[in-house]
This record gives sequence, C-alpha cells and structure tokens, in this order.
Amino acid sequence: SFPKQVNIVEVGPRDGLQNELSVSTADKVALVDQLSATGLRHIETSAFVSPKWVPQMADSADVFQQITRVPGVTYTALTPNLKGLELAIAAGADEIAVFASASEGFSQQNINCSIAESLKRFEPVLRIANENGIAVRGYLSCVTDCPYDGPTLPAQTAQIANALYQMGCYEISLGDTIGKATPLRFAAMLEACMNDLPLQALAVHCHNTWGQALANIYQSLLMGVSTIDASVAGLGGCPYAPGASGNVATEDVVYLCEQSGIQTGIDLDKLADVGAAICQRLGKQPNSNAALAILAA
Ligand code: HMG
Ligand code: MG
Repeated sequence: SFPKQVNIVEVGPRDGLQNELSVSTADKVALVDQLSATGLRHIETSAFVSPKWVPQMADSADVFQQITRVPGVTYTALTPNLKGLELAIAAGADEIAVFASASEGFSQQNINCSIAESLKRFEPVLRIANENGIAVRGYLSCVTDCPYDGPTLPAQTAQIANALYQMGCYEISLGDTIGKATPLRFAAMLEACMNDLPLQALAVHCHNTWGQALANIYQSLLMGVSTIDASVAGLGGCPYAPGASGNVATEDVVYLCEQSGIQTGIDLDKLADVGAAICQRLGKQPNSNAALAILAA
C-alpha cells in the first residue's frame, strides 16, 4: 500500500546538468539555491568525478562553496572513488553517493572497471566516509536494462543491491538508466530486491526515455517504496547511456503524490518556477507536463 509521505531526492543539479554543456557556475548555484526554497530536503548538488570524463561537473567544488545552505536540507555529491570522496569532504558535502551498475557493459563504459572491481573500490570510500560521519547512498544503474548488455535479471540486480547495502550504503537507488522498464518488469525487479533488502533502504531512479517513468514510480509507490529520485523540469540523462533522456520530472512526481494523498512537503508552484528558470537559461522548454500545465494556467 501507499506510503503516507515520500522523500523526493532532487537530482537535477547533478543528473540534469551533467548532460548540459556550458552551464555557468553561477547558474548551477542559482538552481541549487532556488531548489532549497521549495521544501525539498535532499538535493544532489554535484559530482566529484574525473573532469576528463565529465567536464560538465568540473566546477563542483565552486558550486558547493557558493551555495547558501538551508538548515534541514542535505546537499549530496556523487563520488566514484577515494579521490572523489576527498574532494567531497573538502567541499563540505553532507552526504555522498557511490555508483555501481547491475550490468558489466555499463560498468565498463561509465566507471571503466568491472562490477567486482567497483565494489572493491567502494570499500575504503565507505569506511572513510563513515569515519567522517558522512552517510553514503548507493546507486545501482541498469536495474532492468543495459544499453550494452540488454535485459538485466532481477536476481542479478538484487545481488548487487544487497552487496552495496551490506557494505554500508544506507539506501540503494535503483536506476532505470535508459528508461526502458514497464511496470510489470519493474515490479519483478523490485520484488527481488525486497526479498533481500529492507523496503526502507530502497529508492527508485527512473529516467523517462520511453515515457514509463511515472508508471514505474506509481508501481513502486503501490509496493511501499517511499524514496523517489527526480529531476526538476525532467533535466538529465547520462553521458555513458546513449540516447537516454532525463529523469522523471520532479513536478510530475509531486503532482502524482499529492493527488494520491502522499505528502511530499514540496511547493509545486515554486518548483515549476525553478524549472522554468533553469530551462530559460538552457534555451529549452521544461520536460514536465505538470510544469507546462501550471505555467500555462
Ligand atoms: P579512470 O580513467 O579509469 O581512472 O576513470 P583514473 O584513476 O586512471 O583517473 C583518470 C584521471 O582522472 C586522473 O587524472 C585522475 O587523477 C582523475 P590524470 O592523472 O590523468 O591527470 N580522477 C579524478 N579527478 C577528479 N575527481 C575524481 C577523479 N578520479 C580520477 N573523483 C573514473 C575512472 C571512475 C574516475 C571515471 O570513469 C569517472 O570519473 N567516471 C564517472 C562517469 C560519470 O560521472 N557518469 C555519470 C554519473 S553516473 C549516472 O549518471 C547514473 C546515475 O544517475 C544512476 C542511473 O541513472 O542509472 C547515478
Ligand atoms: Mg541517472
């Protein structure tokens, strides 16, 4: 049955802007600061990854330095290795996220190593993060489909998700990286994960490439999942997942939840304005039906 409330993890400044060339540091800071005023409590602010791989995130330290932190909001950073962790700690990230893949093909393309190597690489990252009192989230990509290897078996996804959880990640964000899943397959994957991990430790991260993100999120809510990743104005994608479009729009998730009696704590009108502002800077329309409806009203 539905949760009473959900925690929405806003990933627009990271997942969204990692895919956009030439967004100024000032515009990134403005986006994070505006998001901080909407009621969101988790904002993935940036990524400390190799600037050779993803130059769009090269100014992460500046972004962290220049944002205005609102008490009660957790500002998180993506970190693939110890170097990323050091930079994230120096920048004052409240929380970090490591990221693995449920499929070998995407692991190689995205982080240049096998799944097993990545898990080994995360061990010291988790240890040192914990020593520094920094909570660690774990992303798992390609939970149902991989752009290189095809479909992923639910048992495979559950196994890697559990490995991340056992290692100390407090939450595993299950990523449909290429937005290909439909609710029945997504449910089978979730069921496998729920057999091995506590429900409270599971989050969903749905890209909307095939227009199925909201359907998969609705399915997840029915199964009791209460942490949903989303990106304002539907910004995003992944540079190493060809053709993948943005995450589900945060505005659409807020509308769905509030209309279903599930509290989000987020001011939808304010959020739509924030999405419109960043889209204006990017020269595009918000990729959110709810936002377009609000802006047209
Ligand atoms: P590598 O080339 O195997 O690693 O990359 P390396 O250790 O040889 O490092 C190469 C160079 O990068 C070196 O510099 C390092 O110092 C530097 P050089 O000596 O050549 O001058 N370097 C770093 N610099 C800054 N910060 C760091 C860092 N690490 C190394 N942390 C590596 C391996 C993992 C570093 C690379 O593959 C990488 O950065 N990958 C990240 C790719 C990425 O950001 N993808 C998008 C995010 S994941 C995603 O979007 C999916 C998600 O949304 C969920 C979903 O939708 O499924 C989370
Ligand atoms: Mg993503």
